[in-house]
Amino acid sequence: MAVNPYTSTLVSSSLSSTPYNKTIPTISIKTIKPSRKASINCAALQSSPILHFPHTINSDHHESHHHLQWNLFQRAAATALDMFESALITSEAEHPFPKTSDPRVQISGNFAPVPEQNVKHNLPVRGSIPDCINGVYVRNGANPLFEPVSGHHLFDGDGMVHAVSIAGNSVSYSCKLTETHRLIQERELGRPIFPKAIGELHGHSGVARLALFYARSLFGLVDHSKGMGVANAGLIYFNNRLLAMSEDDLPYQIRITPASDIETVGRYDFSEQLMSTMIAHPKLDPVTGEMFALSYDVVQKPYLKYFKFSKEGEKSPDVEIPLNVPTMIHDFAITENFVVVPDQQVVFKLQEMMKGGSPVIYDKDKISRFGILPKNAATSTDMIWVESPETFCFHLWNAWEEPETNEVVVIGSCMTPPDSIFNECDENLKSVLSEIRINLNTRTSTKRSILQESDHINLEAGMVNRDKLGRKTRFAYLAIAEPWPKVSGFAKVDLITGETKKFFYGGERYGGEPFFLPSSPNSESEDDGYILAFVHDEKTWKSELQIINAVSMVVEASVKLPSRVPYGFHGTFINSKDLAEQAQRSQACSFWTEAQLVSAVFRSFQLLKNNYCDPLLYSFSESGILFI
Ligand SMILES: [Fe+2]
Repeated sequence: MAVNPYTSTLVSSSLSSTPYNKTIPTISIKTIKPSRKASINCAALQSSPILHFPHTINSDHHESHHHLQWNLFQRAAATALDMFESALITSEAEHPFPKTSDPRVQISGNFAPVPEQNVKHNLPVRGSIPDCINGVYVRNGANPLFEPVSGHHLFDGDGMVHAVSIAGNSVSYSCKLTETHRLIQERELGRPIFPKAIGELHGHSGVARLALFYARSLFGLVDHSKGMGVANAGLIYFNNRLLAMSEDDLPYQIRITPASDIETVGRYDFSEQLMSTMIAHPKLDPVTGEMFALSYDVVQKPYLKYFKFSKEGEKSPDVEIPLNVPTMIHDFAITENFVVVPDQQVVFKLQEMMKGGSPVIYDKDKISRFGILPKNAATSTDMIWVESPETFCFHLWNAWEEPETNEVVVIGSCMTPPDSIFNECDENLKSVLSEIRINLNTRTSTKRSILQESDHINLEAGMVNRDKLGRKTRFAYLAIAEPWPKVSGFAKVDLITGETKKFFYGGERYGGEPFFLPSSPNSESEDDGYILAFVHDEKTWKSELQIINAVSMVVEASVKLPSRVPYGFHGTFINSKDLAEQAQRSQACSFWTEAQLVSAVFRSFQLLKNNYCDPLLYSFSESGILFI
């Protein structure tokens, strides 16, 4: 995941330090009635130079055919519920947003969305692109179609895929929103209507927004039977399919056309094998071709499930992993024989919403631990849990086994405070590249910073050579998340010695996840390859793709892109051979039955009646709304 603009210190620093730009329009918050715009501090908005929301990406279908299909009863219900939402917005406007859900912070500057771009060919290239880079680099990110009407967190944005197709020095670029069921309906309705999992769902107004959504569902004004996810976080190419993922839904299959365009094939359930959400960081074993994944639930047990897919896409039965509390698990790791599951201190306490707080909590009383489970396990009986106190890794870069000591070594960036991505806090965020050694004999662990304390820099977003995933790797390529939340370059870190080679984009250029592409799967040197990175110049407001030699750390080529590429999340590369073999079609899949929906809505009203949140949140969880 790309770095996150969520710490109060850094966000305010980024806002205050950016020079004013006269040419860029200011953001507005779209309202129903009454207008929220009037309640926003317009001076603050205008004083921030790069807060903008291009109107060109908004749909103007406010009077859509969706409305025309409604019967009188539905129209009356829609009007009443719109009035309820207006009152809710008025109520929300009486309290300032925390920075973690303030759209003026979350989608400011180059975190702001862009319009879709059709394919542009023959882009200018400076330098020479290595012959081995032949295919398409794709990167996912959050790109809200509509201006927020209320709270918004960067992770809430609709998924957009950016694709750079490369054949020699012939390069094309396009970007397209992923056509999720959520996006299609909102576009049709002409405004955002699905709850935003992080930006909106906290406190009493979050509960009210859930109730509003389910009331709209009850009257058939919106359909969430096919999922509510945004598909904005991860990308993986597996079994001839490119999948866009966020952990709040099933994956969406994306296709790169022969003309280098991007199209959404559809929501993908692996031929009706996957009936629950899947995290956005499944792992591909480079030797066996298997894919491993988790699914977590915020309310209903089992809170965590593990499963895998054969190389051909056949899913294993779920392995239920017992957890005492629902826990955020954004990422995990594999070794040659094990999966490594972090069970950490960021948990969901949904009742906190009723107290006016965030449901995502840093539980200081919980002791972080790692679960080591054989990859082929049919149950969790053989899982070994080893405590690793005060460890919160949002991402894990790799893990491997060291048989001589019977240890599993885990490489990750340990983030403090652990919930700083989601909750506003005074303490500066720190992300420390760490080695955690888990001894399976003694069932104890040790943790060390890979860099010397004096050399500390925030390292987040990146990877090892994925052809070596699950095996001992010497190098990791990680974003230099300085000044947080921006990425000023990347570091090639020797995981054994801590030696670090840094590459800075320079000037006012910033990027995101550095993507390591090996020159060849048969390379003898682990670092024989190239870093691909989208880089944006905040002075000229231009974006480019840089290709940097991972051995010499010198730029080999850069491609001028025809339009701005916002800072985003994760990417992957599909070589030309795989591109030609992409599956064409997907299966339609549903998630919720009508009976389930009615049941959920009933529970929602029960909640309001009883002034108690669990039933509603239970239904919320069933719907598949989790976190990115
Ligand atoms: Fe991520």
